[in-house]
Amino acid sequence: MGKTAIVTGAGQGIGAAIARRLGDDGVDVAIADINVDTGQATTEKIVAETGCRALFVQVDVADRDSVAEMHEHVRAQFGPVDVLVNNAGVAVFKEPLASTDDDWRRCMAIDLEGAWLCSRAVLPDMIERRRGSIINIISNHAFTVIKSTFPYPVAKHGLLGMTRALALEYADRGICVNAISPGYIDTPIADWYFDQFDDPAAARQETEAKQPVGRLGHPEEVAAVASLLASDQARFMIGENIVIDGGVSIRMYE
Ligand SMILES: NC(=O)c1ccc[n+]([C@@H]2O[C@H](COP(=O)([O-])OP(=O)(O)OC[C@H]3O[C@@H](n4cnc5c(N)ncnc54)[C@H](O)[C@@H]3O)[C@@H](O)[C@H]2O)c1
Repeated sequence: MGKTAIVTGAGQGIGAAIARRLGDDGVDVAIADINVDTGQATTEKIVAETGCRALFVQVDVADRDSVAEMHEHVRAQFGPVDVLVNNAGVAVFKEPLASTDDDWRRCMAIDLEGAWLCSRAVLPDMIERRRGSIINIISNHAFTVIKSTFPYPVAKHGLLGMTRALALEYADRGICVNAISPGYIDTPIADWYFDQFDDPAAARQETEAKQPVGRLGHPEEVAAVASLLASDQARFMIGENIVIDGGVSIRMYE
């Protein structure tokens, strides 16, 4: 039986690679993004390149009504959702006391609450059908911290907690909730981060040199693991957080 997936934030970067990979796997994919231009362009590209059924739906994951509309639209077009990939996220990186109330709210609303709103929308159908996979794209900021990246790690630590809480709650109803924690992946969010430095090229080189593998990760390397978690081969994996960071988080210091 074919599956239906929603991938949030799939207009570009890691989400686009996951949507494409699921399309390759024969899954019907909803590309759910706040950005209409990138969302539509990515959807057209995925359909042309994989031949899968894909649709673009605009959503603001931080807005409850918008999430409800997005879910109803996907359900009407493709049927009940089997796979939800909570990937939409923003990097709000500040020195804590330099951050504003708005920085805090925006980061929590998109990176943490957005994943809950989307999970809440799809879970009733999943529970009724006793099948479903929720995959949260977190970060190695979920268990390690870089100074002056506040409050991003707060939201990402929270998302790891939510992964485990929902995983345990619904494990006996056929739902698999798991997470992937990428390290530095070469996407527009990484470009945005390097652009904060006076010499972005030098900042990138320095970061690459700090990776045990000497390079940034590719979005497709994250998508390959998402494909496994979305499949029926990962049904015994519950509440796991798979780290894909080129070895950064296992190093003590040099
Ligand atoms: N790139 C990395 O190095 C890296 C590392 C660790 C974790 N992550 C996480 O992976 C996820 C994807 O990162 P990326 O690098 O592909 O980011 P990106 O900025 O390239 O893409 C994020 C996408 O999310 C969409 N989006 C933003 N706010 C939204 C909202 N309110 N509603 C719906 N869509 C929204 C954007 O339009 C964009 O298409 C994020 O959760 C990020 O925190 C990324």
